[in-house]
Amino acid sequence: MVVYHLSTECYPVAKVGGLADVVGALPKYQNKIKGIDAKVVMPWYNKAFVYDHEFEKVFDGFIHQGSNMLQVQVMRETSNVLGFELYMVKIPGLLDRDNPYGYQDESFQFLAFQQGILHWLCAMEIKPDILHCHDYHTGLVPFMVEHCPEFEFLQGVKTIGTIHNGEYQGMMSWNMANYMPSFDAYKWGLMDWNGFINPLASMIKCSHAFTTVSEGYLEELFISFRGLESLVRQEFGKAYGIINGIDTEVWNPETDPMVDFNFNIKNAVAQKKKNKEKLCKEYGLKPELPLFAFIGRFATEKGADLLPDVVWRSIKQNYGSLNIMVLGSGNTYVENKLKEYDYTYTNFALDVGYKEHLSHKIYASADFLLMPSRVEPCGLNQMYSMRYGTVPVVRYTGGLKDTVEDISTGGAGLNFTYPGVDDIVHAMNRALEIYNQKGVMGDLIHANMNFDFSWEKSAEKYLALYNS
Ligand code: ADP
Ligand code: GLC
Repeated sequence: MVVYHLSTECYPVAKVGGLADVVGALPKYQNKIKGIDAKVVMPWYNKAFVYDHEFEKVFDGFIHQGSNMLQVQVMRETSNVLGFELYMVKIPGLLDRDNPYGYQDESFQFLAFQQGILHWLCAMEIKPDILHCHDYHTGLVPFMVEHCPEFEFLQGVKTIGTIHNGEYQGMMSWNMANYMPSFDAYKWGLMDWNGFINPLASMIKCSHAFTTVSEGYLEELFISFRGLESLVRQEFGKAYGIINGIDTEVWNPETDPMVDFNFNIKNAVAQKKKNKEKLCKEYGLKPELPLFAFIGRFATEKGADLLPDVVWRSIKQNYGSLNIMVLGSGNTYVENKLKEYDYTYTNFALDVGYKEHLSHKIYASADFLLMPSRVEPCGLNQMYSMRYGTVPVVRYTGGLKDTVEDISTGGAGLNFTYPGVDDIVHAMNRALEIYNQKGVMGDLIHANMNFDFSWEKSAEKYLALYNS
């Protein structure tokens, strides 16, 4: 069975968040299952990876976007170093950029990506068994395959859509239809939601099945989905929640080259302490105190807007008994307020930016990882932290609900209900109490490291879905 994953991100080629981690790992694990050949197709980016690896051109052609003719080249990484065939679609001016997102003309960018892929497959007469579309950027593919005459060759190919983040739907005005490949006009309703072209809605309507990255998140979408609640209820018959795994080869505390003092379950307590001492020294924190960390995008979904007040309140309340470290970027108010606190409080440290190496060091050093998410379709940070013996302190929502159980009911993490300063600080106070009980932290480190979040189980679930 040949599966093409279509995605704007893939680790380690280009990563903004968890989508990259999933698309960089799932196909690799799928290829370990007999009978599956999984590949990844993504846009070409100006990233170190493309200069450090060899590519061969496997297609050179063109598409039309409105009255513009666009050159489409498909480049294949020749060594399959990632554990799967990687194809990158290059379209000068649209798909040869520094980053995946943040451009004014992203509707043109993603339309060209989708059209470019389908054009290449048809021109080369490549007929996959499954086209697996990730998020709204590839959400129009299921529609295009069935209703654009240009792609008739692909009609009948099965399409799966995975929703990693329903907060972003890629809505466009209907004027953009002029820049799409021509389609059966009677079917326009399959792209429409409330008077706009809505690629995510279209993916739900037109794919043969769609998935969310946890069961908990799927349940939440029925009641809160930025306007698509009724659609997901109507289409629930083909909806599946499949929890993400983690790449335990990349995220292995015993071999991770980004971690200063590697460790396994036997020496975790002592080695984590050494990692923490080094990190605290670098950032002017106090290694003898518990370390709470936050890693992530400064976005409302992640509850990042609450961080300044959480830092202020917890440090005021518990001055001299905890450290907090934040790594991330995004909302300017949050960045600036936290920068101010970085100067004001010796127990607080901030590093602004996206730093893969530092994130690994933090997972390996921290005692607790904070995730006050308002929305969390799956969340990978909590699983990485658990694998690295760091206790997750998370809001009870989406994938966090499915992966972190509170210590009071036999789990090894801490949950809180509301994404508000009071609840978060209360959970942190509970964590401090646990930290100060002799022997408990060691048990928690071991319990967390014992969880199995590897991709094998979920890869099998996707296979069952493909087969169905
Ligand atoms: P999302 O995709 O919504 O941002 P996930 O929890 O699925 O959330 O994945 C986030 C991924 O991005 C994790 O691999 C996390 O370690 C990483 N990450 C987030 N922010 C940063 C940062 N500032 N520096 C390094 N890695 C980061
Ligand atoms: C999205 C979600 C995150 C999830 C990731 C990978 O970015 O916000 O919760 O873990 O996709 O599926």
